[in-house]
Amino acid sequence: MSQWYDDWQHQRHAEAFDGRWQLDRRNLIRNQEGFNDVRLLNERIDQDRSLQLLEVGCATGEFYRYLRSRYPYTRYYGLDVSGPAIARAKQKYAEGTFIMGEPAASISATLRLHGLPEHPHLVYAKDVIQHQTEPLAFLSELIRIAEETVIVRCRTRDVGHTEWDPERSCQYHYEGWMPFIVLNLQELIDAAMAEALRAEVVVYRSHIVLGGTHNRFVPKELFVASTGTAETALGVFKRTAHSGRVTIADRLDQNPRYTWDYVLKHAARQAWDALRVCRVRDAGPPVVAQFQWSRSSGLMQHDQGRSVEEARS
Ligand SMILES: C[S@@+](CC[C@H](N)C(=O)[O-])C[C@H]1O[C@@H](n2cnc3c(N)ncnc32)[C@H](O)[C@@H]1O
Repeated sequence: MSQWYDDWQHQRHAEAFDGRWQLDRRNLIRNQEGFNDVRLLNERIDQDRSLQLLEVGCATGEFYRYLRSRYPYTRYYGLDVSGPAIARAKQKYAEGTFIMGEPAASISATLRLHGLPEHPHLVYAKDVIQHQTEPLAFLSELIRIAEETVIVRCRTRDVGHTEWDPERSCQYHYEGWMPFIVLNLQELIDAAMAEALRAEVVVYRSHIVLGGTHNRFVPKELFVASTGTAETALGVFKRTAHSGRVTIADRLDQNPRYTWDYVLKHAARQAWDALRVCRVRDAGPPVVAQFQWSRSSGLMQHDQGRSVEEARS
């Protein structure tokens, strides 16, 4: 099992997923609220309520920073299997609660070990389920431990069964492969309803072709629009007046509209980085300079100064 999780221990994971740290409070809010999972959270959860929220797959803690601004009364717990990401979160937010887990250990056992509430009101996991060797068992555990609500962001397909074999559906991150499992939407909803029979399920689906980008090695049908692949926010509401109701709505994740001062500052920084890359190129072996819009972080990322060999590896 661990081979599929080893790459999260790479130092570059903590750097790659710390992009939102560059955003000031206003722009962090704009970034986070462009995503369907956060929109679902804001639509359904009272910001003045005092609740316990567990984030599974918290990486370097930027959702914690968002939450502090919007949900000041929330008690937050962040859990991740990545040592470098948890270390970075603790370094930035010493007052926060960030703990490290083991992929093979149950989440309940990890919470118990750290003396944290085993049944937080809300469990949130963004972009974590698709990287599990057993994504539905993982989702079931999130639903079991949540007292009231689970909100996740994952990847789905409207047509065709889930490919469960990570050898056939995976993603190359830093120096290794991890599962990239695209769940059949109906199978996902059925699994959620089976775990919480009286719950209400809400799906916000943002269609996008998933094959062909971000070093994904996935079945061929995920490269075609007719498969209906999507970045999907799923809410499972155990306390509801609409028990058994399933809502599926198509809503695109929105690219954030950053403030002008941030856009200008960011453009200047990118130009400066590009200049530095050109200088390195003059001085040494050939380098790849790429600007890429990252939908997952909503930030422009510069793949800076990697040699051609490293980029191809
Ligand atoms: C794609 S990143 C998403 C990070 C963050 N949620 C975000 O959206 O920016 C997935 C994160 O989940 C963590 N992760 C993967 N499997 C996990 C598991 N079984 N339990 C806890 N964290 C896990 C990884 O270490 C990584 O930090």
